[in-house]
Amino acid sequence: MKAKVSFQQALQLLKKGEVVALPTETVYGLAGRIDCEKALKKIFQLKKRPLFDPLIVHCHSKKQALSYLFQKHSLIEKLFDDFTPGPLTLVAKKNNKISSLITSRKATVALRIPKHPLIRKVLRQLSVPLAMPSANSYGKVSPVSSQHVLSSFKSKVPVLEGGICQKGLESTIIKIHFSKKQISILRPGMITKEMLENFLKKQDTNFKVKYKTDRFQPGGSSSHYKPDVPFYIVESQKTEKEIEQFLSKKFPKKTLRTLSLSSSSQRTARLLYSQLRQLSQDKKNLIYTQKKSHHRSGLWTAIWNRLEKASSGYFKF
Ligand code: TXA
Ligand code: MG
Repeated sequence: MKAKVSFQQALQLLKKGEVVALPTETVYGLAGRIDCEKALKKIFQLKKRPLFDPLIVHCHSKKQALSYLFQKHSLIEKLFDDFTPGPLTLVAKKNNKISSLITSRKATVALRIPKHPLIRKVLRQLSVPLAMPSANSYGKVSPVSSQHVLSSFKSKVPVLEGGICQKGLESTIIKIHFSKKQISILRPGMITKEMLENFLKKQDTNFKVKYKTDRFQPGGSSSHYKPDVPFYIVESQKTEKEIEQFLSKKFPKKTLRTLSLSSSSQRTARLLYSQLRQLSQDKKNLIYTQKKSHHRSGLWTAIWNRLEKASSGYFKF
C-alpha cells in the first residue's frame, strides 16, 4: 500500500473500515468510522494509546453532532453555531448510539465539527462521523503535515495530503456544567477563554468560563507532546548569552538550540510543532525557550499548556 492516497482512495478505505490519516485545520488525525469496532481498535493500537483515553467524534454538521447527545441544550447549539466548523470540541452526555470503546466507558462524548475543506468533504460523502485522535504516537508531538504523519507511521497508515495545518494547535475542549452555570476548559486550544467569554456576553446567561486542566483532563498526562530530545523552559531577566552560559555548564555534552517564539501567538501556534520536530532531529540537541511576561492570556495559554507538558524541566533565575 502506497502511504499517500488520493481523496477517492481515502474515502473508499474509510468506507471499508480502514484507518486513514486526514488533515484538519488544527493537526492531522487518525480517522476511523465510529460504527466500525475494527477501525476503532486499530486507532488505539497504532497510536499505542491506552483504552482509557477516549476519542473525539468528528461530525459534518451540528445536526449530526446533536444526534449523539442524550439531551438538547440551546447553549450547546449556540456554541456550535458560533464556533463551528472550527477548532472547538464539546463534551456532553452521550446517547446509546456512541460505542463505549470511543468514550472509554465514560457517560460523555467529545464532539467536534472540523473546518478543513478535505475532512469536510470526506465527512459529507461518508455520512458517518469519524473518531479521530491526533496522528502521532501516544505522548509525542502532534503532526501538522503529511510528512510528520509518515515519519511516525511509515507505510502503516495511508495519508491524505492536505498541506500544512493552518492553526497548528489542537482544538479547545470544553464541558458545560449546567448546574454550576460554568463552562470548563478541559484543554486550552485555538478557541480562547476570552473568545468564550465574549460569546457568553452576547447570550442572556450568567455562565462563567474556568480552566480545569489538571492531570486527569485531556492531554493531562505529564508525558504528553514530548519531543525526542530534552526541552527546557527558562524564565529569567538575564541576557540570552548568560542563559546559554548557564545551560552549557549544566549540560556540557549538548548542543543548545533555541525554540524562538514569534510575537504573534497565531504564528507561534502554527509553527510550534514543526519547530519542535525539526529541532529534535539531531539527538545531541537540547532545546530551550524563554517564557515572557506577556505569555499569560489568549492563545498563549494553550501554547504554554503544550510547552509545559513537552518540557523536561523549568529554570527560573
Ligand atoms: O484538534 C483536535 O482536537 C485534534 C484533531 C485531529 O481533531 N484531535 C485531538 O485528539 O487532539 P486527541 O485524541 O489527540 O485528543 C483528544 C482529547 C484526549 O486527551 C481525550 O482524553 C479527550 O480529548 N476526550 C475525548 N473524549 C472525552 C470525554 N468524553 N471527556 C473528556 N475528555 C475527552
Ligand atoms: Mg493528541
